[in-house]
Amino acid sequence: MSKTSRPRVYVRVRPLSKTEEKNGDTIAFNVEGKGSQTDTLVCKKDGEPIRTRFDKAFGPQTTQQEMFDHIGKEVVDSLASGYNASVFAYGQTGSGKTYTMEGDLSNKEAHGLTPRLLTSVFARLKTDPNVSELVARMSYVQIYQEKIQDLLNERRQLDIHMDRNGAYIAQGATWTEITGMEHAMRVYHDSSKLRATNATEMNLVSSRSHAIMMIHLQWDEPQLPGLQAQLNLIDLAGSEKLYQSGATGEVMKEAIAINKSLSALGNVVSKLVDAAKYPDRRVHVPYKDSKLTYLLQSSLGGQNLVHFILAMGASSTYQTESLATIEFGKRALQLVLRPVRNPIDYKRLEEMEMMIEKMRNHIKNLEEELKNKPQGGMVPEAAVAPDTNAFLHINTLHQEGEKPIVCPQNEGSALKRALENELILSVQNMGSPSEQDRLKLFCQLCPDLKKTFRELGGLGKLTAEDLQEKVKGTKC
Ligand SMILES: Nc1ncnc2c1ncn2[C@@H]1O[C@H](COP(=O)(O)OP(=O)(O)OP(=O)(O)O)[C@@H](O)[C@H]1O
Ligand SMILES: [Mg+2]
Repeated sequence: MSKTSRPRVYVRVRPLSKTEEKNGDTIAFNVEGKGSQTDTLVCKKDGEPIRTRFDKAFGPQTTQQEMFDHIGKEVVDSLASGYNASVFAYGQTGSGKTYTMEGDLSNKEAHGLTPRLLTSVFARLKTDPNVSELVARMSYVQIYQEKIQDLLNERRQLDIHMDRNGAYIAQGATWTEITGMEHAMRVYHDSSKLRATNATEMNLVSSRSHAIMMIHLQWDEPQLPGLQAQLNLIDLAGSEKLYQSGATGEVMKEAIAINKSLSALGNVVSKLVDAAKYPDRRVHVPYKDSKLTYLLQSSLGGQNLVHFILAMGASSTYQTESLATIEFGKRALQLVLRPVRNPIDYKRLEEMEMMIEKMRNHIKNLEEELKNKPQGGMVPEAAVAPDTNAFLHINTLHQEGEKPIVCPQNEGSALKRALENELILSVQNMGSPSEQDRLKLFCQLCPDLKKTFRELGGLGKLTAEDLQEKVKGTKC
C-alpha cells in the first residue's frame, strides 16, 4: 500500500421517486462511461452538460449487490490486512443514503452495504485457516440533536473523551461481543429500530440522526497474535432546506442540528485539504465544532482508508443541493490519507509469550518431577524414613474374584500425562475465563489439540471424557 493515498469517492444516483415522476420532474443527473469504467457524473445545467469524475459513478439501475461488489470487497480486504476502514454516506435528505447503507433489512436482495459487510467480514475471517481467536465487538451510536446516544443501550446519552491511544471515543458506549454473522445481524436489526426517524415532505422515513456503527476485530495469525482492524460505517443524516422538507417544531429543530453538523463536516474536510496543500502553514482543523466531527476525528484524520458515497436524486428539482453534494465530493477527493496498518497488540503478544514461557517451565518441572519419582510413589525413596518407605510399598492385597488393577506403564510421555491431568482440571473449571485462557495455551503448545477442540465443537462443549479420549492420540 502506498505511503500516501486519498479517499475513494463514489456517487450513486437514485431513480426518480413515484412522486417526482407524478410531478413531471425532469432528469438532471446521469452517469457516463463504459461498463466497469463508468466513473463520470453528468449534470445538465442550462442545457449544458457538466462532467465530474469520481472513482465510480453508479446509475439509477445499480443494484445493491453491484454496489457491494464494487465497494465491499475492497473494504473487507483492507480490514483483513489490519487497516481501519470507514464508509460514509453523504447527501441531501431523501437522496438514498440509508437505502445504500442499510437498505431493506427484511429483504435479503435489498440489503445495503452494512448488512452485507457484516456478513462478508465474518465469512472471510471465520473461514481463513490462518485466522484464529477472532474477537469481534460492535458499537452503534447515533448523534441526535448534538447528543450522542447508545443504540445498543436504549439510547443512553454518552460524552466524548480521549482514550489512551489519543482517539476520541464515546465514553461508556456499549461494545457487544459478536459471535458470528447471524448474531451481528440480530444485534444490528434490533438496534436499528432505535434510530431516530421521522416523516418529512421529502422523505417519509427520514433519518434524523447520524448513525455510526463500529466493528472492532482482533485475531491471531500464525506468528502474529493480536492483529486488529476497525470498520466504521457512517450513515449521515441529510441536509435539507426547511421550506422543501416542510419541517416545523421538533422536526425543524432536528433539521437545524443536522445542517449545522454537516456544515461543520464540510469545514473540517476543507481545512484538512488546506493542511495537505500547504504543509508549511499552521491550519486549524475545527473538529470540535460539532459532535459529529469531534467523534469522527480518527476516521477523518487520515490514518483510515476512507470511502465516501455521495447520494443524490436524478431529479432537477433538487439540483442546487445535488451540486453542493458534488462540491463536497470534489473536496473529499483532495484529502490526503496516510493509512497506517494497525500495530499488533504487543501487550497481548507479550502476555502470550510470558504465559507460554511459564507453561513451558511448568511442564518441564512436571517432567523432571515425574522422572525423579519412583513408579507409583509420591515421594522419592531417600526422602522418607525406611519404615515409612516399606509401608508405602506394601503390595495391594487382591481379594478373591477381584480383577487386579493394572497401572498403565508407557502410555504416552510423562509430558502428555501431565498435560492430560492439567487439561482435565481446566475442563472441570471451564466456567472461568482464566481456564479458557489456559486451554488456549495448551492449544498453542500442542497444535494437534486445537484440531481436537474444533472437532469437538469448540472449547465450550468439551467434556473431560472427550478430552481424555482425544488427548491419547495427540502429538505434543
Ligand atoms: N437506489 C434506489 N433505488 C430505489 N429506491 C431508492 C434508492 N435510493 C433511495 N430510494 C428510496 O428513496 C427514499 C429515500 O431514501 P433514503 O431514506 O435512503 O434517503 P436518505 O438519504 O437516507 O434520506 P435522509 O437524509 O432523510 O435520511 C426511500 O424510500 C428509499 O427506499
Ligand atoms: Mg437516511
